[in-house]
Amino acid sequence: MKRVLDTPSIAGDKTFSADLIAWQKKHGRHQLPWQNTRDPYRIWLSEIMLQQTQVTAVIPYYLRFLSRFDSVSALAHAPVEEVMAHWSGLGYYTRARNLHRCAQQIMTQHGGVFPSDPEQLVQLPGIGRSTAAAIAAFAFGARAAILDGNVKRVFCRVFGIEGYPGEKRIENILWERAESLMPARSVEAYTQGLMDLGATVCVRSRPLCMQCPMQSRCIANATGRTVNLPARKPKKAIPEKSTVMLVVIHKGAVLLEQRPAQGIWGGLLSLPELSRVMPLGSDTISRRSMQRALRDFGELDTWELLPTFSHGFTHYKLHIQPVYLSVKKRTTLAAQAEFSWVSLQDIANAALPAPVKKLLLKLEMI
Ligand code: ADE
Repeated sequence: MKRVLDTPSIAGDKTFSADLIAWQKKHGRHQLPWQNTRDPYRIWLSEIMLQQTQVTAVIPYYLRFLSRFDSVSALAHAPVEEVMAHWSGLGYYTRARNLHRCAQQIMTQHGGVFPSDPEQLVQLPGIGRSTAAAIAAFAFGARAAILDGNVKRVFCRVFGIEGYPGEKRIENILWERAESLMPARSVEAYTQGLMDLGATVCVRSRPLCMQCPMQSRCIANATGRTVNLPARKPKKAIPEKSTVMLVVIHKGAVLLEQRPAQGIWGGLLSLPELSRVMPLGSDTISRRSMQRALRDFGELDTWELLPTFSHGFTHYKLHIQPVYLSVKKRTTLAAQAEFSWVSLQDIANAALPAPVKKLLLKLEMI
């Protein structure tokens, strides 16, 4: 029987950090412009720029930014427009506004000195839990756990953590891992190792598992699930709606309605929908209800159900039941400006939604 003690507990897994640190020293990145310094200003700036942007894109911006704003004081006293101008092209501009506000708060609330405690760092604008930990680890050697998107991917794969990491429950599990895996010493090399592994080996698609120091303990690798882990954001079930469209025909012409400017197919011509020409709730399909629906348009001759079809919108799926109605006598439509009779021969060039046009073109051929 397997003893409980044989199961590697999270807290006891010192080999994870030891292997990662050894790998980082040999194969990690050591010459990035924000490395080999303990200056919290430079480290903070790099961490903010790297939040949603890749290293190669950040480097030139980082160097230009530093040559213009060489200290937290210089940044705090600069006009925000100039800060924005130096951020221009990097994207996610809230980061730049928060960066400026953060520099000002460091001047006014911390005497121009960065706090070393992650608990204090996280109070500042633009600094989340993981960024606070990275700054504290790199600038002050603090023992604080990071958990950015790359690290989440590494943990999900190595420890076979199922579920979408954006979900709070899974995120909490990942933070627990992040905290318990941290080594007692060499937190900087360990933290850099996590970042390097996620960015250069355990990449999202086609990870380089043969080069990974975690390969022998990686559950995703052992079970062939690197493609499935981390789990993707679950797709929301798309709501379904249904409508009855009236295909009212009189002497080779079809009755069309201009749709309201707002909403689906805004401003296009389309087939009248039963719910629009009849009071809500009375839209059962029968000869009598069809006669009533046509009250303002003509006198019903024959009617039949046409095959249903569906149309997918971004936010829902619409099931359409078309009803063919031939009209003996056409009523004048003077009072109803949004309705018009259009010859079936002109349908190809009319401003109609694609599925409606398709239906009418089929009808024209019959
Ligand atoms: N991504 C976030 N922080 C980083 C760092 N310090 N070095 C490289 N990539 C990073």
